[in-house]
Amino acid sequence: MVDLLALQKHFILAHLAEGDVAADFTMGNGNDTLFLSQTVGERGRVYAFDLQESALISTRRHLEEQGAPQNYTLICASHHRLKEFIHEPIKAGMFNLGYLPGGDEKGITTKRATTLPAVEAALDILAPDGILLVAVYPGHDEGRLEGDMLAEYAATLSRYRICASRFQLLNSPSAPYFFIFEKAPDKPLRRPGRAAKNAARAARLAAQINEASRALAEEEGAEQ
Ligand SMILES: C[S@@+](CC[C@H](N)C(=O)[O-])C[C@H]1O[C@@H](n2cnc3c(N)ncnc32)[C@H](O)[C@@H]1O
Repeated sequence: MVDLLALQKHFILAHLAEGDVAADFTMGNGNDTLFLSQTVGERGRVYAFDLQESALISTRRHLEEQGAPQNYTLICASHHRLKEFIHEPIKAGMFNLGYLPGGDEKGITTKRATTLPAVEAALDILAPDGILLVAVYPGHDEGRLEGDMLAEYAATLSRYRICASRFQLLNSPSAPYFFIFEKAPDKPLRRPGRAAKNAARAARLAAQINEASRALAEEEGAEQ
């Protein structure tokens, strides 16, 4: 069975390493903040945002209980203001949209009006070869509309700058799903030296074909 949470971590870990800078744009109870903090380690940095003071309290407790490295800054502000707080490129960012699980202010969920500017701003500060992951909960109305809005927005991005994709269970329409946005690396996508190796292989192949044709022509000449 597809495990969407394991898949999310797999994608993030393909881009994020020890010493990098990351951001959790919807801190909630701090599960994603902890994952990012442990991944980037003592030499890295993690910024985490939430509108609710209760989320900061819960996250701080969780990070301390789990012995997370002291590499995090917890910010009580809406994520669409992220550029006021982050002044460096980030290698990975995570949005886990929706309501705070088990929160006391049930009315606070992420909303389209701030989600879209926040995702746009996060893509602006994403480093080359960085990744932004946005998990969507279509089981409630605002979540479904946020997902539709993000799909429409993703389709407008230049694929040479940002590769946008969506991972979704097709036979469970109200189950959570996620988008990933991967920024192009600074260097060309092909590995350095690959073009030269391909050219050498093509030259070897051409020489083999020439040799075979020459041998065939000689054989045919001998038979006549
Ligand atoms: C689904 S929860 C996140 C769960 C979290 N990642 C975790 O590991 O527990 C979504 C969180 O987004 C927060 N939120 C809603 N609107 C926000 C906004 N504009 N800026 C930042 N956080 C927001 C909510 O308060 C809630 O805690």
